[in-house]
Amino acid sequence: MKYAILGTGMVGRAHAARLTELGHAVTMGTQDVAKTMASTRPDGMGNPPFSQWHQANPAVKLAAFADATDQGEVIINALAGHVAVEVLKKIGEGIGRKVLIDISNPLDFSKGLPPTLSVCNTSSLGEQIQQALPQAKVVKAFNTTTAAVQVNPQLLSNGEHDIFVSGNDAGAKATVVALQKSYGWQNPFDLGDITSARGAEMFLPLWLRIFAALDNPLFNIKLIAPAKT
Ligand SMILES: NC(=O)c1ccc[n+]([C@@H]2O[C@H](COP(=O)([O-])OP(=O)(O)OC[C@H]3O[C@@H](n4cnc5c(N)ncnc54)[C@H](OP(=O)(O)O)[C@@H]3O)[C@@H](O)[C@H]2O)c1
Repeated sequence: MKYAILGTGMVGRAHAARLTELGHAVTMGTQDVAKTMASTRPDGMGNPPFSQWHQANPAVKLAAFADATDQGEVIINALAGHVAVEVLKKIGEGIGRKVLIDISNPLDFSKGLPPTLSVCNTSSLGEQIQQALPQAKVVKAFNTTTAAVQVNPQLLSNGEHDIFVSGNDAGAKATVVALQKSYGWQNPFDLGDITSARGAEMFLPLWLRIFAALDNPLFNIKLIAPAKT
């Protein structure tokens, strides 16, 4: 499968490396290819510059957002939440009816830490993206755990913990569940239509507090419930 990953941060990199390892072709999207390749400084999270990561992952291509999107059969949104709708809207037709896996979270850092949610309760970033791109098959997924765990659930508890999908299109959700299973997720949990992305995104304030208390991002949700009859 050909994947386009919009975003060169730790989420984009984690999925690009894992997808390549699984034999997929990956093109990552960035604002300015030359600038991203020329950067020699770690990002705000202390991740090494992209060029350094790319040396270890030479099979991954890098292109401008719209060009990367054209290369992908499935698109992954790993953009900063505050720019996601605007960037995806600009690409617009390039996304068309493709499956768009939305990993972004609507985190607003403008008033300091911890960040607040720029949208919640009555809508979500996943819904805003679906509204901006009505033809795209948006599936909210992976946003409830840290990047390294998203692509390798075996990092925790033998992989016996949970990941979700939310979206309006059953076929698109099946595509994303198949991807999650290929990463090692055992039973991806279908939360429902795209409005259920509200719940997945509103987990973030709790995620951030657990992260701060543990001082470690390597944790996740495990559902304990009676089997459905
Ligand atoms: N970090 C995690 O473990 C984690 C876990 C779950 C969900 N998430 C969510 O996943 C998304 C990606 O997170 P991340 O930590 O990998 O990266 P990030 O730092 O949140 O975002 C990086 C990407 O956003 C792009 N970007 C930033 N400002 C922009 C602007 N003004 N215009 C256009 N593009 C812009 C950057 O473009 P350039 O390539 O040009 O620099 C880069 O590709 C976020 O929404 C985050 O909340 C993160």
